[in-house]
Amino acid sequence: MRRMRAIRYDAYGGLEQVKLGELPEPRLGTGPLVRVKCAALNPKDSLFRKGKFALLSGRKFPKQCGLDFAGVVEREGGGLSVGTPVFGALNEWTFRRGTLAELVAPDAHEVAAIPPGVDAADAASIALVGLTALQALRDVARIAPGADVLINGASGGVGTVAIQLARVLGAKVSTVSSDEMRAFCTSLGSQEALAYSTLPEVLASRRFDTVFDVFGNLRFGKARGALKKNGVFVSTVPSLGRVVSDRLSRWSSHQERLVIVTPRRDDLDQLGAWLREGKLRAVIDSRFPLSDFAAAFGKLESKHTHGKIVIEL
Ligand SMILES: NC(=O)c1ccc[n+]([C@@H]2O[C@H](COP(=O)([O-])OP(=O)(O)OC[C@H]3O[C@@H](n4cnc5c(N)ncnc54)[C@H](OP(=O)(O)O)[C@@H]3O)[C@@H](O)[C@H]2O)c1
Repeated sequence: MRRMRAIRYDAYGGLEQVKLGELPEPRLGTGPLVRVKCAALNPKDSLFRKGKFALLSGRKFPKQCGLDFAGVVEREGGGLSVGTPVFGALNEWTFRRGTLAELVAPDAHEVAAIPPGVDAADAASIALVGLTALQALRDVARIAPGADVLINGASGGVGTVAIQLARVLGAKVSTVSSDEMRAFCTSLGSQEALAYSTLPEVLASRRFDTVFDVFGNLRFGKARGALKKNGVFVSTVPSLGRVVSDRLSRWSSHQERLVIVTPRRDDLDQLGAWLREGKLRAVIDSRFPLSDFAAAFGKLESKHTHGKIVIEL
């Protein structure tokens, strides 16, 4: 069996566990075999590597890193033929697959064709965060044109896409970020770019149809008073309490909901089309070669990246 270069780790822990090594080429799933050109990092890569979700990810090693990818089909599958430029995000909870590798074998629903004219790094950068923002705003919050939406933690990976998608869906967008990133949020479409320091006052004095807590550190109890009747609070960070509230509060006049991103070909196609039409732009914080993975993870783990960290192969 062919072998490939890949980022791997053989025990949970800090960055010292991670190395650039070799692994057997991945086994085909329901989709194609893809030669990876670019990948992008997400906080989930670090959280799982640290073993914070070991109950889900299990104790089988080696494990890999990376969920987002863009590349070219090397072996056809899932209706995508050899040579097609593709992108996507893995729905991966065991990290026995990863995209920081020369080859990846996504399932058919985790991959879509990159539209002509769209750059591979942009496509890789938009996959997981784009799916998350789209599913949070369109499917969970069900925002309607004219809705008042507040996005907390707006300058990160999910936030920078959420600002743009909320506008595409017709919402009026307010954002909360560090003071230095307010102008950046405005440049992405925020109509009211607020600083973190004003959040308590905003929550006490304003009403929104949706509060999207992208960073995930806002408690529902604090945001509830800022929701209009039938308003929805959406968080990205799961906890047992949030899973229960997600079910129970659906019948309440103020919902506490959770987004759990699910890769879907249709949604990837939609994100690709918006990239091609210029309705959405990928925000890239920085780029690293695969060999510089430690610096890339160090930057991700600072929690102050503005957009995506791209790994180029
Ligand atoms: N449930 C799901 O399906 C799902 C999917 C994707 C992501 N997530 C989760 O969503 C969260 C955000 O993901 P991401 O990709 O956007 O992360 P990210 O890009 O790493 O987020 C970095 C951003 O967080 C901001 N930030 C740092 N400290 C903050 C604070 N105390 N309050 C508010 N914002 C703060 C930073 O802004 P400043 O530098 O301006 O402070 C920076 O722009 C993560 O916890 C991730 O695991 C969940």
